[in-house]
Amino acid sequence: VGKKVLHIGLFGLGTVGEGVVELLLRMENENKDYELILEKIAVKHLKKQRSVSTPPHLLATDPREILENPGIDTVIEVIGGVNQSKEIILQALRKGKNVVTANKALLAREGELIFNEAVRNNCYLGVRASNNAIYRLAESLVFSPFKMEKLIGIFNGTSNYILTQMEEEKEDFSSALKKAQAIGYAEQDPSEDVDGYDTANKLIVLVGLVFGYFIPLESLFIEGIRKISYEDVLFAKELGFKIKLLAIAQRGGEELEVRVHPALLPGNEGLAQLDGIENGVEVRDEIGVEVGMQAPGAGKYPTAMAVLEDLVCIANGRRSSFPWQEKRLNLKKMDEIKTKYYLRFNVLDRIGVLAKISGILGNHNISINSVIQKGRGRGVNNTVPIIMLTHEAKEKDIQSSLQEINSLSVVREESLLIRVEEGIC
Ligand SMILES: NC(=O)c1ccc[n+]([C@@H]2O[C@H](COP(=O)([O-])OP(=O)(O)OC[C@H]3O[C@@H](n4cnc5c(N)ncnc54)[C@H](OP(=O)(O)O)[C@@H]3O)[C@@H](O)[C@H]2O)c1
Repeated sequence: VGKKVLHIGLFGLGTVGEGVVELLLRMENENKDYELILEKIAVKHLKKQRSVSTPPHLLATDPREILENPGIDTVIEVIGGVNQSKEIILQALRKGKNVVTANKALLAREGELIFNEAVRNNCYLGVRASNNAIYRLAESLVFSPFKMEKLIGIFNGTSNYILTQMEEEKEDFSSALKKAQAIGYAEQDPSEDVDGYDTANKLIVLVGLVFGYFIPLESLFIEGIRKISYEDVLFAKELGFKIKLLAIAQRGGEELEVRVHPALLPGNEGLAQLDGIENGVEVRDEIGVEVGMQAPGAGKYPTAMAVLEDLVCIANGRRSSFPWQEKRLNLKKMDEIKTKYYLRFNVLDRIGVLAKISGILGNHNISINSVIQKGRGRGVNNTVPIIMLTHEAKEKDIQSSLQEINSLSVVREESLLIRVEEGIC
C-alpha cells in the first residue's frame, strides 16, 4: 500500500495558522506512513510580517486558489469570524474536500448546516481544534453505549485565570482583567471570554457531538463573571466553595438543561481545584460512571496540534464522528431550573433588615441554609453585605424574591445571585 498523501490548503496564518505551519515543518523530516503537503496558504494581507517564513509562492489572497484547485483535497480553516469562514467551509465540502476547523463560534452557530454538508459530500469534518481537550472527551462519550447524564466544565482559561487572581491577590474583577490583558491571557475586548460566549460556543459544539444536535445559541442561558467581586470569592471560600465559570449540561427524562454561568463549587475537590488558565470537565453517565479530565486551555500549539491530529486521522482513513440526530430533547427553561443559591445583599446597617429579607425569601418558598453578616456599616452609604446560602429553590422564585428585595429602601445595590453546583467527581 502506497503512502497516503494529503494536499493541504490553509486558510489563515495568524496565531493558529502559524502554529500549524511550524508543526508541519517540524514533521517534514520524520518518517511516517503518510505525508502532509502544504500546497497553498490564503491570507488577508500578503505583505504582512510573519513569525514563520514560507516560500512566497505558497501565499495567496484569492480563496479560489485553494477552493478551485482540484489538487487540494484538504482545507484547514483558521481565519475565525463567521460569514467568510462559513462560505469557505461550505464551498470546500461541496467540492468534496475534507475540512479541519478551529472555529467554535462558527460551529456553535452553524454546526448543523456544516455537519450536514459534510455528511452529504462524504467528507471528513475535523473540529478537534475548536477545543482539543474537550473534543477528546466528546469522542469517548460518543462511542460510549451509555448516555451522558450530566456534564460540568471549565472551558475558558481567561475567566478562570481572572477568578483565581481575584481570590489569590484579593483583586477586583477589573484589575484582575487588566493583569490578564497585560500578560496576553485576555484580549483588549474581553467580552467573548468574560461574558461567557466562548464557553457557550464550546458547550454547544460538545453537546452537539454528544447529544446529536446543535442547540441554537439564542436559546442558551449565558452569564459571565463581571458582576462578581473579590469579596464574593472570599465569602464563597469561607463557606467552603470556589467560584468558577461553568458550562453545564444535564439530561433529565425528555428534558435537557444547558446553561453557562458562574457557580460556587465545593472547594476541595475536582474542578474547583483547577486554577489559572487550566480547563477541565467532569461527566457522569446514566449508569453513574464518573470521569474527570483536566487540560491546558487553548493557545497556539495545543490548537495547532489538534489540527494536526485531525489531519493524521484523515491520512489514516478514519471517519469523523458526526452527530447522530437522536430524538431531540426539550430544552428546559431557565425559570424552571432548581438549584441552591448564594445571595449577596448590600443593605443599610439597621435592625430588622435581615428579618425582612428572610421574610420575603420565605414567602417565595426559599429556605436559608446559612447566613454571613460582617462588620458594621462602611462606605458612604453605611452599608453592610449580607450573604445567604439557600437550600434548593426554583430559579423563578429566586428571581421574583430578588426583585422584591431590591425594591426595599434599605437595599442600596442590586442584589447578586450566584448559583451553586455540586461537583461530579
Ligand atoms: N488563538 C487560539 O488560541 C485559538 C484556540 C482555539 C481556537 N481558535 C480559533 O482559531 C481561529 C483562528 O484564530 P487565530 O487566533 O489564529 O486568529 P488570528 O491570529 O486573528 O488569525 C487570523 C488569520 O486569518 C487571516 N484571514 C482573515 N480573513 C481572511 C480571509 N478572508 N481569507 C484568508 N485569510 C484570512 C488573517 O490574515 P492576515 O494575517 O493576512 O491578516 C490571519 O492570518 C478562530 O476561529 C479561533 O476561534 C484560536
